[in-house]
Amino acid sequence: MQAPPSAATPAGDTSDQAFVDFDQVWLAYNEELRAQNIFAVEDINLKVKRGEFIAIVGPSGCGKSTFMKLTTGLKMPSMGKIRIDGQPVTGPLKISGMAFQAPSLLPWRTTLDNVLLPLEIVEPFRSQFKDRRKEYEERAKKLLASVGLGGMENKFPWELSGGMQQRASICRALIHEPKMLLLDEPFGALDAFTREELWCTLRDLWEAQRFNVILVTHDLRESVFLADTVYCMSRSPGRFVVQREIPIPRTRDLEVTYSKEFSDIVHELRGHIGAMRKTGTVINQ
Ligand SMILES: Nc1ncnc2c1ncn2[C@@H]1O[C@H](COP(=O)(O)OP(=O)(O)OP(=O)(O)O)[C@@H](O)[C@H]1O
Ligand SMILES: [Mg+2]
Repeated sequence: MQAPPSAATPAGDTSDQAFVDFDQVWLAYNEELRAQNIFAVEDINLKVKRGEFIAIVGPSGCGKSTFMKLTTGLKMPSMGKIRIDGQPVTGPLKISGMAFQAPSLLPWRTTLDNVLLPLEIVEPFRSQFKDRRKEYEERAKKLLASVGLGGMENKFPWELSGGMQQRASICRALIHEPKMLLLDEPFGALDAFTREELWCTLRDLWEAQRFNVILVTHDLRESVFLADTVYCMSRSPGRFVVQREIPIPRTRDLEVTYSKEFSDIVHELRGHIGAMRKTGTVINQ
């Protein structure tokens, strides 16, 4: 096996600059698995700069969602340390927002009320919710308008298209202005045109607010279009084995996806994934 842990450290970064800092993190899902030395992810070393947009690609079952659970504190590592925004992770984090492949909007709530949901749950918003409801509603409406859902506030999720529901899910993930947005295959269920539209929506939100983004995707074009850095994970054990900086200048528009530079990077990543699927082993960059 190659790929030393330092391979996943952006050049010139130091630990006090890192917003996400994984230091030799291993996770076995339970004691029995741990006793058998079966880890879902192992020896994850990763430093992500503040405001950086990273994407994670890798074969099914390699540990991408497990990595997300560790990042948000939903799972604690069996070994190693995780620091987010300089703080050790000791339990579920409030500073993150999440959206998943299936938009999980509540069908009995309007779009607006779905977007407001985190403010009803997460402190310090929760205790102020009744008093500041009007202000929060304005914030939600502004966010919805920024993703092209102005005027849809009172519609129920089942009255929206899949793409609209996913836009609303992203608004819900961002309403409490988290420092970190975690997206696990958020556009997987959408058609290609809608997906590309939402790439641009996410790009614009990120460029305006510069929160950290961790995007898990199976779509290599998506990872190259959106991310500053793409990481490839290998399966069994789940490890970060390739780190690829994406030097394409920003602001990127969809035209760039037809350029040689873009397709060369996609091609290169495809090679890494293909080799990993064949051998299950690590590839040198
Ligand atoms: N709750 C759990 N208990 C035990 N093992 C689990 C649990 N959740 C996941 N695993 C195992 O951990 C490994 C990584 O799973 P994970 O869900 O992180 O993969 P993934 O990369 O997100 O896959 P996909 O691309 O299919 O979503 C798999 O071998 C899986 O079987
Ligand atoms: Mg997953």
